[in-house]
Amino acid sequence: MKAVRIHQYGSLEQVALEEIATPRIAADEVLVRLEAASVNPLDLKLISGHMQAYFPLTLPYTAGTDLAGTVVEAGALASPWQPGDRVFARLEPGPGEGPEFSRGGAFAGLVAVPAKHLAAAPKSLELTSAAGLPTAAGTAWQALFEIAQLTAGQSVLIHAGAGGVGSFAVQLAKRAGARVFATASAGNAALVRKLGADEVIDHRTDQFEERVGDLDLVLDTIGGEVQLRSYQVLKKGGQLVTLTMPPDQELASQHGVTARWFGHTSSAARLALLAGLCDEGALRVVIDSTHPLTDIRAALERSASGRARGKILLTDT
Ligand SMILES: NC(=O)c1ccc[n+]([C@@H]2O[C@H](COP(=O)([O-])OP(=O)(O)OC[C@H]3O[C@@H](n4cnc5c(N)ncnc54)[C@H](OP(=O)(O)O)[C@@H]3O)[C@@H](O)[C@H]2O)c1
Repeated sequence: MKAVRIHQYGSLEQVALEEIATPRIAADEVLVRLEAASVNPLDLKLISGHMQAYFPLTLPYTAGTDLAGTVVEAGALASPWQPGDRVFARLEPGPGEGPEFSRGGAFAGLVAVPAKHLAAAPKSLELTSAAGLPTAAGTAWQALFEIAQLTAGQSVLIHAGAGGVGSFAVQLAKRAGARVFATASAGNAALVRKLGADEVIDHRTDQFEERVGDLDLVLDTIGGEVQLRSYQVLKKGGQLVTLTMPPDQELASQHGVTARWFGHTSSAARLALLAGLCDEGALRVVIDSTHPLTDIRAALERSASGRARGKILLTDT
């Protein structure tokens, strides 16, 4: 089968589509025929080696954490899943899970998925779109509702409202009854408003701290000076939740707010809730672009541009 692999950490030049053996599944795993996968910035960070202190890879490494497809075979302990089931999943590169720590493997024709990470794909979506959900929508959900416990009537600023995480976070926060502010470039403002933002701030021309204040929550998807400037738009007791870098606790206490970084953890239960929202028409997947696996470098370079508008998808064609 085809698989996108690296043999060493480094540039995107060395990422190659290779023929490798079909993975053998363990008793608690399911073999899934890939319909589509999606690219996340994490894939680039793993390939470059920038994350090796947190996620040391076993090389050669088959890239990719997010996928959707159909079940080909279920292990003896995964028998509730049946051949033909439409599924989606996020392969967990989570700490403390042994070989799963650097698992990856989604950018391949066939993927061995632990049953505990598998969920039924939304019925109303093509599998190609469902592949855009796992990490980005899962992270948005985890940040807003499991970490920040956002509730109706609160106000939130979502940085990069047009990005993978941001495009889901805007929809979910709005659905939860929050007042939603988001940053995006002018060309993406109409999209982000359509997703549910009450106000969109052009990060190229405007300083967001001059446009909003007294907020309950900032979701920081950018880091650096954007994170440093974000403290001042929070009310006392507000929260900064960041995906990018550990926040400065001294700065947080000077502003009377809490600040937390967290790492996404896979949850099939969370994926099932997201699938339900898709089927209700309350959550959509914004597609930036779709590439065949043979064009893997173009897909990764698009992600590296930092300009993706929603999700970058890969199909096994
Ligand atoms: N901690 C975790 O577990 C976790 C989980 C998921 C993601 N992440 C991290 O979170 C970050 C975002 O992930 P993602 O998947 O959403 O990335 P992404 O899809 O690549 O984000 C691209 C978007 O960023 C926007 N953007 C770029 N610079 C901006 C700025 N200065 N202000 C506002 N928007 C800006 C672009 O919009 P415009 O073109 O409109 O500017 C583009 O739409 C990445 O660093 C990723 O690694 C961490």
